[in-house]
Amino acid sequence: MDPCILVIFGGTGDLTRRKLYPALCNLYREGLLPEGFAVVSVGRRDLSSEQVRETVMDSINEFSRQPCSCNLEELEQSFLNRFHYYKLDFADSTGYGHLKDFLEELDQEYNTAGNRVFFLAVAPEYFSEISNDLHNHNMVINNGSWQRVVIEKPFGQDLDSALVLNAELRKTFGEQNIYRIDHYLGKEMAQSIMVMRFANAFFEPIWNNKYIDHVQISICETDGIGTRGGYYEQSGALRDMVQNHMMQLLTLVAMEPPVDLSTEAIRDEKVKVLRSLSVKREDVVRGQYGEGIVDGQRLKAYRDEDKVAPDSNMETFAALKVFIENFRWAQVPFYLRTGKRLPHKYAEILIKFKKIPGVLYFKDSSLNPNILTIRVQPDEGIFLKFNTKNPGPGQTIIPVSMDFYQHEIDGFNSPEAYERLLHDVMRGDSTLFTRWDEVEYSWRFVDQIERWWHTSNEPIPIYASGTWGPKEADLLMKNDGREWFGPTKS
Ligand code: BG6
Repeated sequence: MDPCILVIFGGTGDLTRRKLYPALCNLYREGLLPEGFAVVSVGRRDLSSEQVRETVMDSINEFSRQPCSCNLEELEQSFLNRFHYYKLDFADSTGYGHLKDFLEELDQEYNTAGNRVFFLAVAPEYFSEISNDLHNHNMVINNGSWQRVVIEKPFGQDLDSALVLNAELRKTFGEQNIYRIDHYLGKEMAQSIMVMRFANAFFEPIWNNKYIDHVQISICETDGIGTRGGYYEQSGALRDMVQNHMMQLLTLVAMEPPVDLSTEAIRDEKVKVLRSLSVKREDVVRGQYGEGIVDGQRLKAYRDEDKVAPDSNMETFAALKVFIENFRWAQVPFYLRTGKRLPHKYAEILIKFKKIPGVLYFKDSSLNPNILTIRVQPDEGIFLKFNTKNPGPGQTIIPVSMDFYQHEIDGFNSPEAYERLLHDVMRGDSTLFTRWDEVEYSWRFVDQIERWWHTSNEPIPIYASGTWGPKEADLLMKNDGREWFGPTKS
């Protein structure tokens, strides 16, 4: 792997502490960092590199998926000492010249050859500014070295603002050097979807409207919006979760087999799914959490959260029924559901198969259909439900299940999404990042729903915290003779 310096803008922020530092430590332990490597945390506060190293240690101890079992002295020598701090006000362009000099000095020390990953873990309003300043100070040059930029979500607020942001970034970076993060793509089971479909003889032949009744994709959370009221008031569940994470899972489930496993071939197929999406106004449901009592604790309503307007109409829950208008999926509904303050935190893709012809055993219409669930989290795995004969005399048929837990593979402890993503950026593999046209088409889709919601004067349905969202979401299913499945249980 090429050597490089990882420059984290927003180096003192939450994402860096919770995700990036622990991910780097795990990559180090697995021997997945390049020989020539250094990290520069860029932030506005007055800190020393020593203090940053302490924060790195603390964040590993607090948030890493595996305890810090390495030899501390060695860790210090070969890992922690590579972390540096650089104080910079992102909005003050004069500081970038000095940053450039600083990075060039580090190039000498660590043999990093001018290669850079600029990770923008900052509020979106700084994305264009930082990118322009990097350009103006000649920090993105193509003289045999490479410079890549990693952008956290949200990539715009709607299609128009995403277009503007993209144009700004493209002044400095080529499309192949822009890594738009969707951390769901870094999750192990999201990566497994294509393997499951295209590396097995028995899934793909039945993966179509002849055999599949419908698909449900749920990303449910128990937490409220916490301290993110300011952001969430501009965003809501549709922009925060549907435009990115849910659309990405949907494309992986529904895409056609790519011509090969190259980044562009895969992205081409995902874009086709996004272009084929259709939704009707009556098939979208929104909701907002009200108060509720969970485990004996009273939880406050969204409107009482910090930095939220007392009459806010922002949705914390969204459910929709969408169709993919192509040969494979015509008439198969995809039901998507996401929300805050729901009873369980989990993310799953559930595929319900059609009933087989009503002869033989299926004369009895009470028999259970086959179900396949891809558990993205918390217990990564695949669950299959099918019918068998109840052992013993008689002909009773019972549903049974086969349940594969990912961690059963040789005690495998799945890497965190950010480990895989950071590693891929350093390797120059952008398959698990979103290409511009994926962003574009998902905004087109989401924008139309935003327009429906924001041109309506209807009050937003309120659901009690700790429940499964507004009753309208259940009706969306009930009207089709279906129901939402909760988290899969063996
Ligand atoms: C983020 C959203 O992108 O994803 C958050 O902004 C959400 O609102 C989070 O809580 C969920 O991610 P995960 O990995 O915890 O399911």
